[in-house]
Amino acid sequence: MTAPLTLSDPRLTPPPRRSDYVRLAAAADRGRWSVERDVRWSAVDPARAHERPDLLTQLRTAALIESYHPVHLGWMLDDTWGDIDAGAAIALEMYEGFKHFHALRSYLDAVGFEPAITDAELVAIRAAARAIGPKGSLVERLVEFMLSEHLASYFFRRIGEQATDPVLAELLAFIAADEVRHAQAASDLLATRIASDPGIVPAVLEAAVHFHHFGEQVVADVPVALPGDPLAIRSFARRIERLCGVRLVDHLKRRI
Ligand SMILES: [Fe+2]
Ligand SMILES: [Fe+2]
Repeated sequence: MTAPLTLSDPRLTPPPRRSDYVRLAAAADRGRWSVERDVRWSAVDPARAHERPDLLTQLRTAALIESYHPVHLGWMLDDTWGDIDAGAAIALEMYEGFKHFHALRSYLDAVGFEPAITDAELVAIRAAARAIGPKGSLVERLVEFMLSEHLASYFFRRIGEQATDPVLAELLAFIAADEVRHAQAASDLLATRIASDPGIVPAVLEAAVHFHHFGEQVVADVPVALPGDPLAIRSFARRIERLCGVRLVDHLKRRI
């Protein structure tokens, strides 16, 4: 027989809200993969990889962009220290972005791609960006972060589809899946901010209209795997519309 309910019965108390970081950590755990154990390094085929030097050149640039995370995310961490979920999302991004850099650089070294990436090159990139400093409000930078991750997932997916070495295709599938999760994490941070202050919706929409990939702080030309990729563009707009409850085209019409 079950005990009668009283007002203090814990069954009447809603469960405490789980922090977003709990969900984020669980998703990261489900998606985990190891650079050392899950990439078939012994099966890397340099001859096949060099059949597409254009892809290797793009991946070299992508590795430089991944190596830049400590700079722009360092600024973001500083601006979000009061938000526990944001700290967790940014820390995970920094760790997994490092993994992407580490895996891509290792792959390029394994196939003997030239010019090899040097630590001095990475430091020079960081120094140049730090001399300029962060640009835009935190909301603008969160939108930039979310949409850059969104496009990164398409970039790695498309390059993976064209990769001639199966080991590279597998590696890029791991990375692309991580980027989907990263875009969602940034989206969740924005959703929380919008829920507590719907007044920021116009700023989110404007940031999307004026979006620039954060990789532009690293290289002059951020690589694009499939110029005008219709799926990437449609889903880019959908991400913003889901967050803001406003169609991007309607927002653009209203601005005219
Ligand atoms: Fe990445
Ligand atoms: Fe990422």
